[in-house]
Amino acid sequence: MSRDVNVAILGATGAVGKELLELLAERNFPLKQLKLLASPRSAGSKIVFNDQEITVQAASESSFEGVDIVLASAGGSTSRTWAKQAVEAGAVVIDNSSAFRMDENVPLVVPEINPEAAAAHQGIIANPNCTTILMGVAIYPLHQVQPIKRVVVSTYQSASGAGARAMEEAQTQARDILNGKQPQAEVLPYPIAFNLFPHNSPLNDQGYCEEEMKMVNETRKIFDEPELKVTATCVRVPILRAHSEAINLEFERPFDVQRARELLGVAPGVKLVEDWQTNYFPMPIDATGQDPVLVGRIRQDISQDCNLELWLCGDQIRKGAALNAIQIAELLLEKNLLTVSNSAVSI
Ligand code: A2P
Repeated sequence: MSRDVNVAILGATGAVGKELLELLAERNFPLKQLKLLASPRSAGSKIVFNDQEITVQAASESSFEGVDIVLASAGGSTSRTWAKQAVEAGAVVIDNSSAFRMDENVPLVVPEINPEAAAAHQGIIANPNCTTILMGVAIYPLHQVQPIKRVVVSTYQSASGAGARAMEEAQTQARDILNGKQPQAEVLPYPIAFNLFPHNSPLNDQGYCEEEMKMVNETRKIFDEPELKVTATCVRVPILRAHSEAINLEFERPFDVQRARELLGVAPGVKLVEDWQTNYFPMPIDATGQDPVLVGRIRQDISQDCNLELWLCGDQIRKGAALNAIQIAELLLEKNLLTVSNSAVSI
């Protein structure tokens, strides 16, 4: 890595923000200065990083001066408010929200899949949707060997995807139910404890929710396969963090299961977890706090000769969000990509 840099975390008090802090310390990220930004509600609060207390500041126009990299995880509208100003102040923004993901001037990057796309950035790089990242890391190694024709995916998504408050709400609801009280839902639309419901993002005319369409459109963009067929059903489940996904992949020709297992056994960012004797496969409880996407139950689809089935679990806050963002930041440093390739910021 070339030099120490000034980093700002926008959304430092949130679930992903906290994980970003942990990862910066854990990975010994070459930091010169770290700025912690959040909403005015959190201004003045203190967060300990590497034994040092840092005061959280409310994001403002002057927040980005002298900052090299902004790790933004404060929601789409906050990113829309500040990203352009941060870029104009000279920073590269790695944005975890969906605000810019499908913008043609914004690379959508998963370092294990399309690191080369980062080089074309014009100041903003988007971090993909969490379920999309986890799926992409697990299926791209197979796609590279034999192109995938169609993906059918069902997700089992934890409360963490809706932020720190949704995680707290899930725990409160569980306690209330066990104590014989009615669970209250404020952050998520329905009680999540001891329940599940289809992902509550807005529905389109075809009956797909936004989360499902993110999996479709973002996978196409990251894989650079605009015609790839993807269909998804996204479901919120009573898990605190770590998402799971059941994936059916269709290929042109049969894909040897053993070959798929070998490929995923050495794929970057993937850990093969399969013990067929004991029926032990990836579980969210094992994926929690882990970097790799756990993949297992790879098997031939008995109903289609050219299809494989697989199952994965991945920490939504780590690889699904914070870790991917930090890996993009590391990539920028490694490849010397901190300067904007085209000074005209056309976001
Ligand atoms: P705050 O804690 O001050 O509300 P999560 O996804 O876990 O809910 O976290 C969201 C993050 O985004 C929090 O750090 C939150 O700060 C931050 N945030 C929310 N709204 C704004 C805003 N208008 N400006 C800056 N940060 C914001």
